Amino acid sequence: MKTLAPIFEAIERSAHRIREAITNEDLCYGESCNATGDMQLKLDIQSDLIIAEEFSKITAIKAIASEEKKEAETLHPEGRYMIAYDPLDGSSLIDVDLSVGTIYGIYDGEFQAKNMLAAVYVVHGPRLEMVTAYKGGVRHYIFRHGRFQEQETLHLKEKGKLNGPGGTQQYWPPHHKKLIDGLFAEGYRLRYSGGMVPDLHQILIKGGGLFSYPGTADKPEGKLRKLFEVFPFAFVYETAGGEAIDDKGRRLLDLGCDDPHETTPCFLGSKYEIAKVKEAYGV
Ligand code: AHG
Ligand code: MN
Ligand code: MN
Repeated sequence: MKTLAPIFEAIERSAHRIREAITNEDLCYGESCNATGDMQLKLDIQSDLIIAEEFSKITAIKAIASEEKKEAETLHPEGRYMIAYDPLDGSSLIDVDLSVGTIYGIYDGEFQAKNMLAAVYVVHGPRLEMVTAYKGGVRHYIFRHGRFQEQETLHLKEKGKLNGPGGTQQYWPPHHKKLIDGLFAEGYRLRYSGGMVPDLHQILIKGGGLFSYPGTADKPEGKLRKLFEVFPFAFVYETAGGEAIDDKGRRLLDLGCDDPHETTPCFLGSKYEIAKVKEAYGV
């Protein structure tokens, strides 16, 4: 395969099928749908099956890893690319009809950030949108009149206006609270839906700001998964001219990954806000 075109096409087909499932299917999956503990939604599983089926048709894909499965799965041993994906991020927001999304990281070889070739996310909101980071450019597509139509290339400004602070505030470390309070004191506005895809999409489309999900007393390594959520968005943000670091000031894309479900504290934003993070964390 000379280009990633067949992979992008499979992602587009999956986007349509997932949107149809969101519109038409039940949310609950048998007994596992209840108010406590982890809720596995039928839609999470169904979205995962759709993507696995579309990718299995492409012989250049060697292996896939999904947030919904414990282990990676080999598709075509002779293939070259490996793809990690979160089939339906923010799925707990579907019952309140907020935006959700799908996140993909495409690797040339093993699942290590340094091998990432492209990242893609799809937003299921009032409109169907897609953003790709590939070959140095972040491209925005809106589905209109039967096809994804390319819009302007996306760039983050040096400094933005939005603040998306994740995690339970009760468990934030004091220096993190100081950082977030400091940004609000500078005039930043709160934009946090609880869906990583629309929250990061909003900051990117509006030109800048900070999205953070820190290590907390209850979750010292944060909540968001490196492979399925953090690395792809770090790739998008860096390609758009922003920065993406952990709580020790390291580039997220320099971090290793030993287990597909490993998490990390993460900070993604424009350069000004990331400098503020470094200052607050003393890194
Ligand atoms: P998922 O639905 O795939 O499990 O992930 C949800 C994630 C992410 O979308 C969001 O940023 C984060 O969970 C929200 O967590 P909090 O509710 O703890 O802020
Ligand atoms: Mn997720
Ligand atoms: Mn998910």
